[in-house]
Amino acid sequence: MLSIRNLQVSLGRAKVLHGINASAAPGRIIAVIGPNGSGKTTLLRAISGDVGYQGRIAIDDHDLAQLKPWELAARRGVLPQAATLAFPFTVAEVVRLGLTSGTQADRTDLITRALAEVDLTGFSGRYYQELSGGQQARVQLARVRVQVWDPVQNGMARWLFLDEPVASLDIAHQIGVMRVLRRFADAGGGVVMVLHDLNLAAMVADDVWLIHDGKLLDAGAPVQVIGGSALATAYGCPIAANQIPPDGATFVLPHGLWA
Ligand SMILES: Nc1ncnc2c1ncn2[C@@H]1O[C@H](COP(=O)(O)OP(=O)(O)O)[C@@H](O)[C@H]1O
Ligand SMILES: [Mg+2]
Repeated sequence: MLSIRNLQVSLGRAKVLHGINASAAPGRIIAVIGPNGSGKTTLLRAISGDVGYQGRIAIDDHDLAQLKPWELAARRGVLPQAATLAFPFTVAEVVRLGLTSGTQADRTDLITRALAEVDLTGFSGRYYQELSGGQQARVQLARVRVQVWDPVQNGMARWLFLDEPVASLDIAHQIGVMRVLRRFADAGGGVVMVLHDLNLAAMVADDVWLIHDGKLLDAGAPVQVIGGSALATAYGCPIAANQIPPDGATFVLPHGLWA
């Protein structure tokens, strides 16, 4: 269980998160949505242990602030919003970074498996910098996956914290990544990811957290949050949620664009 209590984060002089309370259970996919600058990345950085905060964050009743770096690395993998590399690493070397930052550095077999998972079989010898943005994003996901390969280890659920993991991916690879995450969650792992695509969030998330101005404006099932009135308030534009019969999947379309 990931538990967030009265989380407050200040960056520089700006107070960015103002008292967020939320819980996430392993086995579920949480989509964090909200407009640009609302605090999604800051929330993800806080639960990843990458930024100072006030309040309490706990993973399985362990206070995040008390966990040692290797304990943190064993429990969660983090995909930042943008990852730049200064050196000419090969794809395999980038993925290997996930192994060495985790607790299973000897499991080099996982590099091939993780690359296959993100549809990059045969890419291990290629230079990372010579790949497309979408391919680089998938390499980074493979790096994070090898760090916490097994969704549950020694009875301990592991977590993937992902900031816009599919922002630069085509639709087929978006679906491919969602399948990877679904399998991870179905096998007992926890997933918290920032998503911009509301339709994708509606399709794959078990729970949606709607962030607005550094606060949790709404949380719950996609049909409630994405179908709820808080969504248009948060984004400051008219949005209507609809449901496609007969399966009842929620989708959104902007409307009244030129009004
Ligand atoms: N290092 C920083 N110093 C000061 N303010 C920051 C810093 N990083 C982000 N912010 C501010 O915090 C707010 C939330 O940013 P962020 O969490 O990145 O939003 P989101 O991911 O929802 O687009 C924004 O107003 C942004 O300008
Ligand atoms: Mg962001």
